[in-house]
Amino acid sequence: MSLPALRTFEQRIERQLRLLELRKTIIERNIGRQIRLFERKRDNIGKKIEEQARLFERKRGIRLDDEVRFIRSWLERPLTIGAVTPSGKMLARAMARYVDPRSNGPVVELGPGTGPVTEALVQAGVAPSRLVLVEFNPAFCRILRARYPEATLVQGDAYSLRRLLETLLLQPAAAVVSGLPLVTKPIRMRLRLIRDAFDLMMPGAPFVQFTYSVASPLPRRLGGFSVEASERIWMNIPPARVWVYRKI
Ligand SMILES: C[S@@+](CC[C@H](N)C(=O)[O-])C[C@H]1O[C@@H](n2cnc3c(N)ncnc32)[C@H](O)[C@@H]1O
Repeated sequence: MSLPALRTFEQRIERQLRLLELRKTIIERNIGRQIRLFERKRDNIGKKIEEQARLFERKRGIRLDDEVRFIRSWLERPLTIGAVTPSGKMLARAMARYVDPRSNGPVVELGPGTGPVTEALVQAGVAPSRLVLVEFNPAFCRILRARYPEATLVQGDAYSLRRLLETLLLQPAAAVVSGLPLVTKPIRMRLRLIRDAFDLMMPGAPFVQFTYSVASPLPRRLGGFSVEASERIWMNIPPARVWVYRKI
């Protein structure tokens, strides 16, 4: 290729590169604008829901603090929270029923949120000092710390259960009760969690999990544990079922 032809070629390439750069900047700017728009919309929806809840509280003379906090957390991280409102009393009681209050050892709760299941466990006779609460969300941790000062609160990722509890538990757990939105995680992670939980529990102790989905959140066919399910609890919003797994 002659020198002038090479220069023309170079200039053409440079022009293409500048055009590409320009397009990239425009796309980045558009994406940024969309994200800001989405965040503004999300915040407005959050504020509207809070306003409605406050109005409702004033009219009915009740307090919806937990619900409002829950909704706010759900708007920020929908997949992590997994539910728009805390569990109702019926579901919380149904979960607590699977824990024998006369058993020995700690009772571990994963994802206690604002504490409806924790409350049901205490009401069912589990001493708060036996509770080990593993919660990710700092706002929920503050609530739990104030409500259950005798319980052991671990602010961390429940999917790292072994690392979090291995040295903390002085004896095998009598039960693990989970409100985690398990179905949002890959099967591999769910199985690792339940295996880690079984290693921290006494033989035959229950791993209690609720879910809104129709099927068991842990595949029955993989074996190694027994599976039991409650009736669907229609009085919960949305209706839910409690699944109980025990290591065979
Ligand atoms: C569906 S809510 C259930 C809350 C409460 N147990 C109830 O029944 O209302 C799920 C809870 O799990 C917590 N969570 C989600 N992922 C977690 C994780 N990896 N480690 C610890 N907590 C987690 C959320 O912050 C939330 O409090």
